[in-house]
Amino acid sequence: MKRYAVIGASSGTGLALVRQLAARQHTVRAISRRPPQAAPFIEPFAADVTDAGAVEKALDGAFDAVFYTVDIHGLFKPREEIRATMYQGSVNAMRAAAKLPIPPKFVLLSVIGAERPSWVWWVLNASKPGMQRNILDREQALKNSGLPYVICRAPKLNDEAGGSVPVVATSAQHRLDMSRGIPRNDLARALILAAEQAPPNSSWDLFSDSDAIRPATPLFATPGEQQPSSMDP
Ligand SMILES: NC(=O)c1ccc[n+]([C@@H]2O[C@H](COP(=O)([O-])OP(=O)(O)OC[C@H]3O[C@@H](n4cnc5c(N)ncnc54)[C@H](OP(=O)(O)O)[C@@H]3O)[C@@H](O)[C@H]2O)c1
Repeated sequence: MKRYAVIGASSGTGLALVRQLAARQHTVRAISRRPPQAAPFIEPFAADVTDAGAVEKALDGAFDAVFYTVDIHGLFKPREEIRATMYQGSVNAMRAAAKLPIPPKFVLLSVIGAERPSWVWWVLNASKPGMQRNILDREQALKNSGLPYVICRAPKLNDEAGGSVPVVATSAQHRLDMSRGIPRNDLARALILAAEQAPPNSSWDLFSDSDAIRPATPLFATPGEQQPSSMDP
């Protein structure tokens, strides 16, 4: 049995992670402002990532990995408020994790193609000012943190049930567009594999691919190479 922390645990991918980890009988500390209720293997912990002290308390303990899946809700918020959550919140979590006696693997859920121009980024930056910069800066902060890390970049997320289309992992190389997507449930499954299997200090693009070859090879089998590896649906 392992012990994990999920930061951003109330909804979306973070909540899917919490449920999947608990279903595997791993203890999971579910951290967010309004965390899910306590249940077998689930320890809720209310904390706002913009409060460094609160995040430090939330991460007090021993963890095999910390998943960071926080996203800011709502559109057209002030740039400073978005940065405080998206960037500074992640840095607060990294600093708290780095202070632990055994620094855990830090799995950051990020966005595909953050360094590449794309009309999708234009839309995201218009509705959430500074979004692309924040995504890039938090990836760089993690690389500089000294923590063992895995950066998992995803395309557009959806709430389909998942489990029907293989997920592929490639080196981080794709442009963000609307041609790729991934169900949050499948993404959560892939993030757990990333925590367990991905080489430390690696970055990946993760997305659904109905053309992926079966039988699947291990999802994170080809670090830094062009060939995708896939996870069975
Ligand atoms: N949406 C997409 O299409 C897309 C595409 C690629 C990558 N991503 C990335 O995927 C990640 C997750 O997205 P999602 O849509 O699955 O999640 P989501 O449903 O938007 O959940 C975001 C989580 O962040 C928590 N949160 C927000 N502000 C917080 C704060 N100040 N302190 C603590 N927790 C806070 C929320 O809980 P509380 O409100 O209870 O605090 C919630 O649990 C994000 O990092 C996003 O950048 C999203």
